[in-house]
Amino acid sequence: MSWIERASALLKAVILAGGEGTRLRPLTYWTPKSMVPVLNRPFLEHTIAYLKNYKVKSIILALSHHPEVIQNYFGDGSNWGVQLNYAIEDNPLGTAGAVKNAERYLDSTFVVLNGDIFTDLNIADMLSFHRGKGAKVTIALTWVDDPCAFGVVETDSDGRVKRFTEKPSPTQVTTNWINAGIYLLEPEVLKHVPANTHYMFERGLFPLLLELGEPVYGYPFSGYWLDMGTPEQYLRLNCDLLLSKAKSALVSGLTKDEVCCDEDVIIHPSAEIVGPAVIGSKCRIDQKAHIKGPVVIGPDCHIGDSAVLEVAVLWEGVKIGAGVSLKQCIIGTNTKIEADDQASNGVVTFTHKRVA
Ligand code: GTP
Repeated sequence: MSWIERASALLKAVILAGGEGTRLRPLTYWTPKSMVPVLNRPFLEHTIAYLKNYKVKSIILALSHHPEVIQNYFGDGSNWGVQLNYAIEDNPLGTAGAVKNAERYLDSTFVVLNGDIFTDLNIADMLSFHRGKGAKVTIALTWVDDPCAFGVVETDSDGRVKRFTEKPSPTQVTTNWINAGIYLLEPEVLKHVPANTHYMFERGLFPLLLELGEPVYGYPFSGYWLDMGTPEQYLRLNCDLLLSKAKSALVSGLTKDEVCCDEDVIIHPSAEIVGPAVIGSKCRIDQKAHIKGPVVIGPDCHIGDSAVLEVAVLWEGVKIGAGVSLKQCIIGTNTKIEADDQASNGVVTFTHKRVA
């Protein structure tokens, strides 16, 4: 193990998993955004597996929205081989306020991740950059075609941050490098964050540190990065994983075009399934159903006679009636879709209701 791998193994991580997930509603009325299923496993499980891959095993979950759902599922983390602590906010404290609320756990350099980011960023390499620059804060930067919906970060030739612009208009765009929602921080910067107050990194702490002349650096990386916080991006993440465009430390051995079934799945011999597809336990797929991947079907789903599914993610307990045709859809838990309905293009259903 190199010195930097040893150093990254000592890092603690804070995962910001407290946002309301308004962009993913109605799916997130009942489920915290970080618990939405990706390849039939809660998103947060993928993030924890990613951190564990970098030997980061002391993880603090900063929560505000439905914290009990996450605590009941993960407990102390021992089943995942990590140690979990919880910092729970009575009211959302914002990204920096949530980390301030976890300050009691943070006594050395730590990594912060937005709870809706999927990435293969190399944490050990980012730490080496952070140490090499003597930074107080290092912000991971990813390049996007259209930065107007993001926080743009301008750096000098040495990587030192010069300016932040949140959601620039097209005429304000000076760079396509955006804040990727992954940070390395020295604990001392938290003295600038007010306690028990809603306060953000992007609009609060980071610009303040620039004003104070503190060393804030941007670490550009070119690997996989996706914010799964919208229906389109959530669907895309599931597809990218199935198509091996992205890799999860949690799910190994998925090969392109494979149909991967959990236990007790019943598929009628006349049904046609073209991978890649993941089918959860106790699903039933009736005669002449046609499934064309990438598709994820949650446990306890029923696909009726001659139904067609193409590029779709179905959560648990979904019932698709005979002859229904669905394309580019996300279908919420226990949704029933009746005979001969058709839906396409990123439709998200309401629990227990039909596709609009
Ligand atoms: P919407 O999907 O637009 O509602 O976004 P969000 O509320 O989830 O916020 P955003 O995506 O900007 O937040 C970035 C990350 O920080 C996400 O993972 C959020 O879950 C998390 N986050 C945002 N606000 C808070 C907060 O007040 N407390 C905690 N603990 N996490 C937060």
